Amino acid sequence: MNKENNGSTPSFTSKIGLVMAAVGSAVGLGNIWKFPYVTGENGGGAFLLVYLACVFLFGLPLLMTEFIVGKHSRKSVYGAFQSIRKNRRWQWLSWSCLIATVLVMSFYFMVTGWCLSYLVDAIAGTISSTEDLSAHFANLSINTSRVLFFCSITVFITALVLWFDVNKGIERLSKILMPLLLVMMFIMAVKVLMLPNSNIGMRFFFETDFSKITPQVILSAMGQCFFSLSIGFGALVTYGAYMPERQNILATSAQVVVLDTLVAVLAGVIVFPAVFAFGLDPAEGPQLVFVVLPSVFEQMSMSRFSSVLFFSLLCIAAITSIISLMEIVIAFISDLGARIKHPINRHKAVVITIAICLISSTLCVMSVCGTPDWLKIAGHDLFECFDAVTSYFLLPLNAFGMALFIGWFVPKQVIEKELHVRPRSLNSTAVSTFRLVIRYLVPIAIAAIFLKEFV
Ligand code: PHE
Repeated sequence: MNKENNGSTPSFTSKIGLVMAAVGSAVGLGNIWKFPYVTGENGGGAFLLVYLACVFLFGLPLLMTEFIVGKHSRKSVYGAFQSIRKNRRWQWLSWSCLIATVLVMSFYFMVTGWCLSYLVDAIAGTISSTEDLSAHFANLSINTSRVLFFCSITVFITALVLWFDVNKGIERLSKILMPLLLVMMFIMAVKVLMLPNSNIGMRFFFETDFSKITPQVILSAMGQCFFSLSIGFGALVTYGAYMPERQNILATSAQVVVLDTLVAVLAGVIVFPAVFAFGLDPAEGPQLVFVVLPSVFEQMSMSRFSSVLFFSLLCIAAITSIISLMEIVIAFISDLGARIKHPINRHKAVVITIAICLISSTLCVMSVCGTPDWLKIAGHDLFECFDAVTSYFLLPLNAFGMALFIGWFVPKQVIEKELHVRPRSLNSTAVSTFRLVIRYLVPIAIAAIFLKEFV
């Protein structure tokens, strides 16, 4: 991202730059850390099937929706809906996106802190498969000062990136590092598939037992799909506002969906065969990859180097996602400032966002570490609560709102204008199909899944 001539609005100068940033936002801990454990908890193959159906049904149209809203309004998620509709009736959606972002940020920093801690352990050579890896993770997750230390380092690194506006550097770096992450994951998958009993894991991940598809599984798959594709936060509205005029929204969205899903499925192909080969439980929960991966590295040549490389790439994938989460808040605050006639420049907005991140992530870390114990809600720590509220409620609500907004309240000409990008212009059938899907299919499906589970 770099500055446009007016010096205040960041923009992407190249189409590939925007694709890289959007992929950087989507591919993160959601694919490598969250997808395997949510799949493990929800029955393996059955969950995978529903997840892929959600990606197909909701992923592409909702990504396109967010990009259209951002590109047409050229505003942050605070001002976008209002500027298109010229009234404030959709302001609730802006605030709901902001709340989802802040809640997710609080635990995203914590988990990135865990990854950094594992990276340091990998460099020092202090994790090995001979020790009890569950105990290693358990000790880390209750070590308040260590997690807070690494969490603050993450905040500090991202603050530097945003302060000096070196996103361009990050874009360039991700062009090399994201393919490297993919190659590394392919190699790990091949190694894992050679382990004894790996076929049991493959069957767990790919074989669908239809009796395991319950309303709860469908709701989890939908939430995971939104989380992983960064839908329902306004991240892609924000990036859409920085999109070059001639960017092809359909192609960009399709690239994000394909790459994000590929990384998630690869993570499953690495984790589940290893889980069964090492006699672990696929429903271990959030600690799953931290317990499984160190044993996988032991099987690889240059195990220490491999684990350092992998955890470095994971931290970078997490940081590119955090940058887009923070960008939502920074752009929101700047637009809000302009609206209340209290201009807030980018640096001030960065400082306010960092303060929000530090406070929310500290609360989350303290709650998970168990001190003080009043930082829990009905016996659940803040991570569990924030994760559940966003995945099961806020993200589906925001996606539902966006589908209604673009399907029913945005003139057809706007969609036609934003989707007809030369030289590969879409014909009008494609535009009509998109409108049909986003007007009826998406909102009805989200409402049905939600009501089936809760009513
Ligand atoms: N999609 C990211 C992931 O899978 C999470 C994220 C959500 C990042 C929203 C930015 C905005 O890890």
